Amino acid sequence: MTAALFEVRRTTEQDWAEIRALRLEMLADTPHAYLETVADAAARDESGWRRRAARTAGPGAISLAAILTDGAEAGRWVGTMAAILPVGAAGARLVGVYVSPGWRGATSGVSDALLDGIEEWAGLHGDVLTLEVHQDSTAARRFYKRRGFEETGAVQPYPLNPKQLELEMAKPLRAEQAGGPRLLGGGSR
Ligand SMILES: CC(C)(COP(=O)(O)OP(=O)(O)OC[C@H]1O[C@@H](n2cnc3c(N)ncnc32)[C@H](O)[C@@H]1OP(=O)(O)O)[C@@H](O)C(=O)NCCC(=O)NCCS
Repeated sequence: MTAALFEVRRTTEQDWAEIRALRLEMLADTPHAYLETVADAAARDESGWRRRAARTAGPGAISLAAILTDGAEAGRWVGTMAAILPVGAAGARLVGVYVSPGWRGATSGVSDALLDGIEEWAGLHGDVLTLEVHQDSTAARRFYKRRGFEETGAVQPYPLNPKQLELEMAKPLRAEQAGGPRLLGGGSR
């Protein structure tokens, strides 16, 4: 059996420098997928990055990183996903979704492994996992659809360009809602 090429783990405040590097990469790669500009993120100082990293290290949120474990690039961060628990919501919200271009696609397994981890955590905190995706994020919308998310019909202007839309998608996390028994976190594959 081939050894895993990457691991997925929770991030902590101590990871602030790696979180910063990957955040700047994702904001430059797909600006419309996020709610801040690369210039704003680049201007944040170490204490700001530490505060940001600490926010998702506590009990009310989670941030996961996919980190290469083999080869010359061992230690490189190649993907991240996070989730928060909005006040009054029925479940968690998926945010900060990114996989580096060379590690996208179901074959590498990075995006699926990250989402598996988020779904496992979200299932402990509610019955549904929701997200907002930019209208032009075609690959992301296909990925979410493959993983069992459906558009709810709710839309809102994209805050950084209100002429564009963000679409809400949701995935039920309980077996009875998903149409049959399955293992929690096992996704729809
Ligand atoms: C969103 C993301 C994590 C999905 O991971 P992934 O590994 O690419 O996911 P998959 O390969 O399973 O799915 C991508 C789908 O889009 C398709 N796709 C890839 N690039 C595409 C493009 N430029 N245009 C249209 N479809 C595209 C793939 O063929 C695949 O569709 P299929 O399963 O029907 O063949 C990754 O694409 C990414 O990081 N994108 C940039 C950031 C982003 O958009 N984040 C989302 C914020 S809501």
